[in-house]
Amino acid sequence: MSVQKSWAELQKMHRACTIVVDTLGVLAAAAQPGVTTKELDKIALDEIRKAGAKPAFLGYRGYPATLCISVNEEVVHGIPGSRKLKQGDIVGLDLGCIVDGFYGDAARTVAVGEASPEARRLLQVTEDSLKAGIAQCWPGKRVGDIGHAVQNLAEAGGYSVVREFVGHGIGTSLHEEPQVPNYGPPGRRERLVAGMCLAIEPMVNVGGPEVRVLDDDWTAVTADGSLSAHFELSIAVTEHGPWILSEPYPFAQGRESHA
Ligand code: MF3
Ligand code: CO
Repeated sequence: MSVQKSWAELQKMHRACTIVVDTLGVLAAAAQPGVTTKELDKIALDEIRKAGAKPAFLGYRGYPATLCISVNEEVVHGIPGSRKLKQGDIVGLDLGCIVDGFYGDAARTVAVGEASPEARRLLQVTEDSLKAGIAQCWPGKRVGDIGHAVQNLAEAGGYSVVREFVGHGIGTSLHEEPQVPNYGPPGRRERLVAGMCLAIEPMVNVGGPEVRVLDDDWTAVTADGSLSAHFELSIAVTEHGPWILSEPYPFAQGRESHA
């Protein structure tokens, strides 16, 4: 079970998550036609080092890069390389960093230039499904309430949620307990308590939910070749509600209400 973090530990999570999301903003602006995915990876590493942090994915289980870049029908864990982005591509950017031993993890999917209306709707629905999951993150709720909210929103939009990859607890490791599926019945799985930090990360497909992994042993693609989008944020459960850790602390009450 993900350890309950103290106020001092949440401050470190906040720094790590802020660096990740700020860097994703830089990468989103750089994701223009003609840029290679390797060039984006270099920008990510430079930005993370400039901020005084360390990349979290590089070397993790042998992963060879700082960033995961997943284009169009790629779902997650695409490896940066010589591929050039084209007008109309949708590009999943997934990044993690470490500050003082604490991990931040976030992802967003952006359009290169003008995307089709269907692609834009997929991005919107996937981000909305993440926000619906985050809205469940109050003490006393359960992990299953998060997945249920995500799945409801994605399927109401006519899409499907990937089952093979899940969100996770986060803290002094990239992946801690509990697992956070993007599907399933409400009222089940672990109970949420204040101080728990979770990375919630819906992967939403235009077609069916099935995925397969390419011969590089990392890149997951949709089995039917349909477009896929991925959004992720790391949050802390607090007694005042969810704190998106890449944003300023949002509540009037301060540290005295935290362990
Ligand atoms: N955001 C992804 C995750 O939480 C990225 C992991 S990529 C890896 O699992 F290379 F680090 F495995
Ligand atoms: Co993650």
